[in-house]
Amino acid sequence: MDTIEKTAVVTGAGSGIGRGLARVLSNAGMNLVLVGHHEPPLEETASSLIGNSIIVEADVSNLEDVQHVADETIRAFGAAHLLCNNAGVGPFAATQETTIEEWEWVLSVNLWGVIHGVHVFLPLFEAQKEGHIYATASEAGLYGVPFLAAYNTSKFAVVGLMQSLERDLRASGSSVTSSVLCPGATRTHLVEGERPVAARREVAVAEKTKAIKKEAAEVVANGMDPETVAECVLEGMRKKQFWHFSHDHVPQTALKQAQIMSASRELSQL
Ligand SMILES: NC(=O)c1ccc[n+]([C@@H]2O[C@H](COP(=O)([O-])OP(=O)(O)OC[C@H]3O[C@@H](n4cnc5c(N)ncnc54)[C@H](O)[C@@H]3O)[C@@H](O)[C@H]2O)c1
Repeated sequence: MDTIEKTAVVTGAGSGIGRGLARVLSNAGMNLVLVGHHEPPLEETASSLIGNSIIVEADVSNLEDVQHVADETIRAFGAAHLLCNNAGVGPFAATQETTIEEWEWVLSVNLWGVIHGVHVFLPLFEAQKEGHIYATASEAGLYGVPFLAAYNTSKFAVVGLMQSLERDLRASGSSVTSSVLCPGATRTHLVEGERPVAARREVAVAEKTKAIKKEAAEVVANGMDPETVAECVLEGMRKKQFWHFSHDHVPQTALKQAQIMSASRELSQL
């Protein structure tokens, strides 16, 4: 992918993988549009970049906000060339404990955020006959993970959306391309991330859930460095790969699942 003097839009750029992507893309010569909820962490990302950047506060679950991101990008840099749909949330809860507000919140950010990005930016990329749409999914977009039903659902949907998008682009002879990242544990704020008032818990969480969440927080705290994950994405984009796998066990586990499905149909073996 040509990066010099092109413009990348990164959602969820105030921390974690989004900040890693912003830094790696800036180092590669791109202008950056840093998108997120709150300005202070976005400012921190901006100050760590070597190149041009602007900050646009936006909630990706809101279509008008995402349109505003596109408008501000054009106003500042004249065009966008890479959209990184990265913002995401990941609350832990057993399926039985997940409230309807949590389902709505997770799907509105993790799935609708990506749908909004595709809906707003794809016509711009098609019109200029150039552009790449990327999404951060997860290993949870390829196989089931306990205590993450809403997250799992959203990430499966993102993988499906991105695969369908890529096939539609190739079938129509479009010059626009797309790709998806399915990372494993990465050292970010995901597990401890904020939640909106509507999705705050009013139901009691089982001791088992608290223990699993603690374990997951430890796994994430010991996860891969987000900038290393971002470097893997940029390398994959340069090689024109659709799938980005920063963690080797992810495609291996997905393959194992496919083999189990065809052999015994017993998902519980995973
Ligand atoms: N950390 C991991 O182990 C891991 C593994 C697989 C996939 N992921 C995915 O990576 C992506 C980035 O998450 P992260 O791990 O860097 O966590 P993070 O919490 O550090 O970063 C997520 C960012 O998204 C922002 N955000 C949340 N809701 C938003 C909204 N409605 N609008 C705009 N911005 C919003 C947050 O403010 C935050 O800056 C997510 O899509 C996540 O699902 C993370």
